[in-house]
Amino acid sequence: MKKVFIETYGCQMNQSDSEIVGSIVQKDGYELTTDLLEADIVFVNTCSIRENAEQRVNNRLVRFGHLKRKKPWLKIGVLGCMAERMKDDLFLEHKSVDIVVGPDAYRDIPRLLEEVESGIKVANVLLSEEETYSEIIPVRLGTNGVSAFISIMRGCENFCSYCVVPYTRGKERSRDYRTILDEAKDLFDKGYREITLLGQNVNSYLWKEGEDVNFAKLMEMVAKISPLLRVRFSTSHPKDISEELIKVIAKYDNICKYIHLPMQSGSSNMLKKMNRKYTREDYIQKIEMINKHIPNCALSTDIITGFCGETIEDHKETLSMMDLVGYDYAFMFNYSQRPNTIAEKKFVDDIPQEEKSRRLDEIIEKQRELSFESNKRDIGKEYEVLIEGESKRDKNELFGRSSQNKVVIFNKGELKIGGYINVRIKDCTSGTLIGEVIN
Ligand code: 5AD
Ligand code: SF4
Repeated sequence: MKKVFIETYGCQMNQSDSEIVGSIVQKDGYELTTDLLEADIVFVNTCSIRENAEQRVNNRLVRFGHLKRKKPWLKIGVLGCMAERMKDDLFLEHKSVDIVVGPDAYRDIPRLLEEVESGIKVANVLLSEEETYSEIIPVRLGTNGVSAFISIMRGCENFCSYCVVPYTRGKERSRDYRTILDEAKDLFDKGYREITLLGQNVNSYLWKEGEDVNFAKLMEMVAKISPLLRVRFSTSHPKDISEELIKVIAKYDNICKYIHLPMQSGSSNMLKKMNRKYTREDYIQKIEMINKHIPNCALSTDIITGFCGETIEDHKETLSMMDLVGYDYAFMFNYSQRPNTIAEKKFVDDIPQEEKSRRLDEIIEKQRELSFESNKRDIGKEYEVLIEGESKRDKNELFGRSSQNKVVIFNKGELKIGGYINVRIKDCTSGTLIGEVIN
């Protein structure tokens, strides 16, 4: 039986896609392996969002090329966003690549694998308006048996000016809610206790059939599966997050009190250029709405620094927004110009690299302070934690997460992974809470 090794780069969506690919090849008679050296086929599921994400993949492909010299029968496949963006050019840039498959063509992998056996190079990068892989039950890769992702929709049509995703992942489409519920129930029955519903913009989830099912309704249905099943979601677009959804989050204890709401920039000028379709004031209103209904809600964000024409004032507005919201966590990036995006065509990438990095450092330092402050405020409080695994630091300790998505470390005792435990926070760093078990 031929063995397939899948390596994943980039977002959670890619992780979820790799699990779909794993399921497709397994069904076709291939075996999955986690040992690169015993693989007959290597798939790299790739990300194009920033140049350095692509660079990492390029370096890996060089390494796989070396491997192929020792094992000439090894087939190398590129999946995901880089496959879609670069198409046949990948064959030119990496002589070792045999197969190129875009995000909507994974069902075609068995046929492509058969064709490639005759020594030719094969590609399928067709985007689809319907494909959601809805009935494919993903294999769970690299799982702790406690948390899993469920992809609820694909694609994105927001066309933020800096972003390559609408081009690599195509049109937005939602998956039949019944298949999502089935997958969630199945995971719960298998012992999973936390699922994250995934989409590029989950707020525009919509299944039209009889009575419409929007994202708020879907969340409610998933939450009702069991009070022991935690539900999370990612990602929300600030322009679309609704009061209806916030109220649903507030209503169910098992919907986690954590919202990732990418602001990108605190400056209305930048937001306009980014085509985000909200202003600084709109964003603040959404935060106020969240805080009103869910006072204990943790918030995280994405920030891009050094976008085209960003002035020091714009940058300061981002810093002041961070203070205003008091994010618990943030993902922070230098702007990276991507080929064929609106920004690449319309604007000049004019902030020098050193200046981008200087601003990014300021933002990272600000977030470190905010995260530390937020963690310090938790000292003395009690949280329910879902136990996810052994702490890497100390075998006698376990770690898990609070509803607010904060990592908590505590003594192992007789506790089991996958169980819930109440802890009181007694100390913290800027990245972790340290708790003592109270029941
Ligand atoms: N450069 C830097 N960051 C980007 N992101 C998307 N495109 C780019 C880019 N060209 C960031 C955004 C998005 C996150 C997933 O990646 O912040 O929310
Ligand atoms: Fe990219 Fe904007 Fe779509 Fe997110 S919402 S994937 S940043 S275009």
